[in-house]
Amino acid sequence: MTTSQLSTPHVLGIKYLTESDIQLIFETAESFKEVINRPIKKVPSLRDVTVANLFFEYSTRTRLSFELAEKRLSADVVNFSASSSSVKKWETLLDTVNNILSMKVDMVVMRHPAPGAPAFLSRHIDAHIINAGDGTHEHPTQALLDAFSMREKLGDLAGKKVAIMGDILHSRVALSNIFCLQKLGAQVVVCGPPTLIPKYIDRMGVGVEYNLRRALEWCDVANILRIQLERQDIKYFPSLREYAQFYGVNKQLLNSLKKEVVIMHPGPINRGVEITSDVADSDQSIILQQVENGVAIRMAILYLLAAKR
Ligand code: CP
Repeated sequence: MTTSQLSTPHVLGIKYLTESDIQLIFETAESFKEVINRPIKKVPSLRDVTVANLFFEYSTRTRLSFELAEKRLSADVVNFSASSSSVKKWETLLDTVNNILSMKVDMVVMRHPAPGAPAFLSRHIDAHIINAGDGTHEHPTQALLDAFSMREKLGDLAGKKVAIMGDILHSRVALSNIFCLQKLGAQVVVCGPPTLIPKYIDRMGVGVEYNLRRALEWCDVANILRIQLERQDIKYFPSLREYAQFYGVNKQLLNSLKKEVVIMHPGPINRGVEITSDVADSDQSIILQQVENGVAIRMAILYLLAAKR
């Protein structure tokens, strides 16, 4: 049964959300999706609430999506980017954030390269924290918008088969998706070269498949992840060309399957590496629906956390 309040004051990871929390976020996002498709897309729900978007790492989709969600809810918004701040003068994370909070901020959306940075902040400051991606740990809003998009396409996710493909080792999207899909009763398989699959991941209750065709034959949904070269300090495979040959999803391969697989990607896409353009831009792909749903999911989370003030 869905409750009317989130069980937690922060959204630090899917690991810390209950199934009821997830269903509540989905129900709230459905209402907001209706709002953002109206001619007048703005509601006054977060008037008098100030949100700081603190991005210590690059982002396009998540950052714009949060800012749009906040503005659609009539929040006051301040944006911070580490590359143009006093972080460059060695200011600590806690000092930076405490200075921002002194300006009377109610909620913080944070992306940071260090796993656990949002959890650290939540123990030291009196504001609701939303994790917008912490290193290789979690990216909860991405997993929620992914599951919401799958549910829109396929209905109830219980028993559905989802293959997460690519660089699982360095992916926060993979971990959050695994937690989220399992809470919703879906079956999960991870697929990629052995060097990019974490040892013992099967102990999380996910299947492991090293063969791309077999994974595609098994699944209802393929969530394709990019190779995170910026997090790789050693070579995990000989070349991008060879990776594309063995793990790139292309139209010829999809056409040879005897069924239609839903294609997803959190972005940014490396066209011609993990996915070809004819797949990314095909009718099977719901990549842009994921982006649209991201705004509704983030509006829902902001709204539900503000209700706990
Ligand atoms: N999906 C995602 O997190 O994209 P950005 O890095 O552009 O925010």
